[in-house]
Amino acid sequence: MTTQELIQVPSGLKGVAVAETELGAVRGSEGFYHYREYNAAELARRASVSDVWHLLVEGSLPTTEQAARFERQIGDHRAVGIKPAIIDAVAAATSVPHLGLMALLPLVAPDGIPTIDLSPRERREAATRLAAAVPTLLAATHRRRLGLDVIAPDPTLGHAADWLRMVLGYEIDPAKARMVETYLTATIDHGFNASTFATRVVTSTGADAAAALCAGIGALSGPLHGGAPSLALSMIEEIGDPGNTDAWVRAKLDAGQKIMGFGHAVYRADDPRSLLMREVAEGHGGPLVERAVEIEARILAVMRSWKPDAVIVTNVEYYAGIVLHLAGLTPDLFTSTFTVSRAIGWSAHLIEQADNNKILRPSARYVGAPPAS
Ligand code: COA
Repeated sequence: MTTQELIQVPSGLKGVAVAETELGAVRGSEGFYHYREYNAAELARRASVSDVWHLLVEGSLPTTEQAARFERQIGDHRAVGIKPAIIDAVAAATSVPHLGLMALLPLVAPDGIPTIDLSPRERREAATRLAAAVPTLLAATHRRRLGLDVIAPDPTLGHAADWLRMVLGYEIDPAKARMVETYLTATIDHGFNASTFATRVVTSTGADAAAALCAGIGALSGPLHGGAPSLALSMIEEIGDPGNTDAWVRAKLDAGQKIMGFGHAVYRADDPRSLLMREVAEGHGGPLVERAVEIEARILAVMRSWKPDAVIVTNVEYYAGIVLHLAGLTPDLFTSTFTVSRAIGWSAHLIEQADNNKILRPSARYVGAPPAS
């Protein structure tokens, strides 16, 4: 195909379907997303992380017996055999646990067998084992960075509760643990977002499962994707009194800066995850939540008058930061917490991509100086 024959797609691949999936989708104009045939926000209100994990990887919600077995299997997979000295070295070398994770995850299965050489059952096993190891590695790196002891996983606990116990060092109140579980369950998967796409691109080359998940981790770490929840919370702190909102937001927009926690590439109606997180935050209540609700309304009003033709909505990250903060997690752990849940979604996409693979290899239109013939 010559340069002239290339199919030109919109900037950012917006609205372009580049793969088929049975895992779920986002209907931006309806403000709706689903995991397989289930309304995802509804599922997040009642289901556990491992129930949704089972739904994505095994194809159905588990029966009570399957749920107990699957949760235990995930719990067993949280145990990783990486030497403490290696974790210490990574913890000493980075102040960002989810970036350190890219060094550690490939060591969980150090043989690096290409997914293309594994049977479907082996691929499922490798992807699940790696996704389950994510909270253990993040918690260990975080704690060693602070000079604290590493807390070993407890396979009898659910994935959300064990993440909190391993990272915070204590068992948190069940109501707060449920707030985090709702967040994790709501953020496992979300259409063909940048990190899911990145995971599928690397999977499509036949690379080993850890390499594919590391691509997802890298993509998620960017502020325009998963790196924003702490920025949204610090924005609320910086604004302080809701009366300061208009001037604060206008100054940022005039300087060409982004307002974190607002806008979405796909939603043209309310982001259901944002509504869910707001519901969870309001269920907890308190002065911070009240202030956030007031500031949100003011930010939306400014942004809508700034770009009257665009539909700018509150995204998941605005209230997510508040929910995670109320549950006792510090801002440096917000993106790590997102990584714990989204790694499950990536692992399901990895399996789906590898089970029916075609290498993802687009083209770019050359717009530089003409080459010498
Ligand atoms: N702050 C400033 N400008 C914003 C904005 C925000 N939060 N959200 C959207 N816009 C701007 C876009 O840059 C775009 O401007 P343009 O017409 O000059 O290109 C316009 O509003 C319309 O944007 P839209 O097409 O609806 O979204 P997008 O795909 O360009 O951007 C994001 C989507 C997520 C990258 C963008 O909203 C953003 O940067 N948000 C802040 C970061 C964030 O909260 N990320 C978490 C996402 S879950």
